[in-house]
Amino acid sequence: MELIFEKLDKAKHNRDDFDCGVPVLNHFIQTRANKEMKQHLNSTFVAVPSIFNHPQLKPIAGYYTLSMSALAFVSVPENLKRHIPPSYPIPTARIGRLARDIRYPRIGGQILRDALFRILDQNRNIGIYGVQVDAKDETAKKFYQKYGFIELLDAHEQLFLPIKTILQMNP
Ligand SMILES: CC(C)(COP(=O)(O)OP(=O)(O)OC[C@H]1O[C@@H](n2cnc3c(N)ncnc32)[C@H](O)[C@@H]1OP(=O)(O)O)[C@@H](O)C(=O)NCCC(=O)NCCS
Repeated sequence: MELIFEKLDKAKHNRDDFDCGVPVLNHFIQTRANKEMKQHLNSTFVAVPSIFNHPQLKPIAGYYTLSMSALAFVSVPENLKRHIPPSYPIPTARIGRLARDIRYPRIGGQILRDALFRILDQNRNIGIYGVQVDAKDETAKKFYQKYGFIELLDAHEQLFLPIKTILQMNP
């Protein structure tokens, strides 16, 4: 399915109908995402099908949120932090939430790729050593691991992808 990615705009996007099957992620896009963006806590990007019937509001097929973060030096596996001074925190971009609507199966990979390439683009202006995600369960973990994310040493539900890995991906 061809998707267009846009920054969430409550005047343009139909937040109320979004249903990924996980109430807390539905609730976030419906009630918190816009507020948190205004507070500069994170930014939400939505995937919109390129063709849709709804006359007023565009359907949201999926979404993800991005914010800046950092990891403690000790959290990152040894082979991924060679030549970094141990006193440094590891600067990361964080995908706090990522979900797709149950009516749009098999687009999770496209959504994640858009997030990763947007982060790569930001890396031109601000140092980002890697991407951090919280995998809320084993299914989410397997999904991220498929793209090369690895477990952190001290929190196995947190996963990390070096920016170098994104550089090697085909856009
Ligand atoms: C996790 C989620 C985004 C995956 O979306 P999806 O549309 O099923 O993903 P895709 O079909 O595009 O899968 C992309 C790749 O990951 C793989 N994958 C997806 N789920 C997987 C799983 N549970 N185990 C192993 N691989 C998996 C797919 O096989 C696919 O690889 P392929 O292209 O080689 O076949 C989706 O299930 C979802 O929104 N779940 C609810 C919210 C959630 O759990 N979010 C994640 C953490 S906040």
